Amino acid sequence: MYNTVECYDKPADIMDKMETPYVEMSKKEHGFISGLIRDHRPEKVLEVGVAGGGTTAVIMNCLNEFCPDARMYSVDINEECYKRDGKQTGFQLNEIREYLPNIENHKFLLGKELPCVIEQIGSNIDFLVLDTVHIMPGEFLDFLCALPFLADGAIVVLHDVSEHCRVNSPYGYCTRLLLCSVTAEKYYNLDEADDIRGFFNIAAFKIDQATRNEIENVISALSVTWQYMPPESMIENYYAVYRKYYTEKQLLLIQNIVRRYRYIEEFAGVRKALLKEVDCYDNIYIYGAGYNGKKLQKYLKRKGYDVSGYVVSDDHYAKEAEKYGEQVRRISDIEKLDKTVCLISILDEGIKERLDNAGIENIKLSAEFLRLEI
Ligand SMILES: C[S@@+](CC[C@H](N)C(=O)[O-])C[C@H]1O[C@@H](n2cnc3c(N)ncnc32)[C@H](O)[C@@H]1O
Repeated sequence: MYNTVECYDKPADIMDKMETPYVEMSKKEHGFISGLIRDHRPEKVLEVGVAGGGTTAVIMNCLNEFCPDARMYSVDINEECYKRDGKQTGFQLNEIREYLPNIENHKFLLGKELPCVIEQIGSNIDFLVLDTVHIMPGEFLDFLCALPFLADGAIVVLHDVSEHCRVNSPYGYCTRLLLCSVTAEKYYNLDEADDIRGFFNIAAFKIDQATRNEIENVISALSVTWQYMPPESMIENYYAVYRKYYTEKQLLLIQNIVRRYRYIEEFAGVRKALLKEVDCYDNIYIYGAGYNGKKLQKYLKRKGYDVSGYVVSDDHYAKEAEKYGEQVRRISDIEKLDKTVCLISILDEGIKERLDNAGIENIKLSAEFLRLEI
């Protein structure tokens, strides 16, 4: 199923010449990339996600050996290295410039996301390394942005394809999902292991016509749980590229996914706002002991809030009290009005008025909140 790559370690020796011993890829992973460069001899390389620039230096060193005229572009959204305050992104490449005769072939494009610079970089990219956030939608957006600029036969390297197998990183599955959903010939050293993640952590695939024909599988996988919502301005920048290079139908599929996650985020905001409001009270009651009321109680419990009891109307009281005992009250039973709130879990409009009239602070939850969120 996968081709294996014979790792080539020598180009990574350049790391020893750096003043700052900082690296975000292992020696083996650098060996994997160098092995691919040795085997495919690219002429135009794009790296997205640079950090200190150690990997940039290894790639440039390897290009120097096998294809010294190759150009390389390194794109990073941060001008300052995200893990080294006060240092510029890519500073490690600058520490070893003198050892790279091909250094003039390299260009940093910092402080902007890929769609802002991809047209400047232009087409015929034949080697791409994606190593940014590893959580959705991360590298998916960049791959879709780069694809129209990739040559047939281009190699796409994905780092951190096993990040989700770390003890504390369950959402780090972005590059693995991309690897699994793309149609292409794939490169992965299945028999090698990573002692932090259990599995080899770098992979690659080769672009061909089938990759382009089957891109809707990748778009479909883009719908899998997003861990963050990019700012609207960033989404607009990606759309500007997608609008030009994808069909109307494909753009619509992408936009529908983005729209869904905007909605989910908005909803998470509503949920947070409710918990913040509830924080101001010592006693929380829920009006209604039915299905929604119980769901709401469980939700609040999960979030660390104790519910003092359910409030029901006089005509339901006997029945519910028999079931739930002291937990069930009537409006007139709620004595401690100070710092008390009643969350209304039923849709009857009159309840709010009755609680208002009884001087009980209350929050009426929308039908949508009750249906969807808890
Ligand atoms: C894991 S580090 C890259 C490590 C680097 N490839 C190496 O091997 O040393 C991730 C980098 O991606 C950058 N980044 C995060 N989101 C990005 C985006 N949307 N576009 C470009 N770079 C991004 C961060 O600033 C950071 O420098």
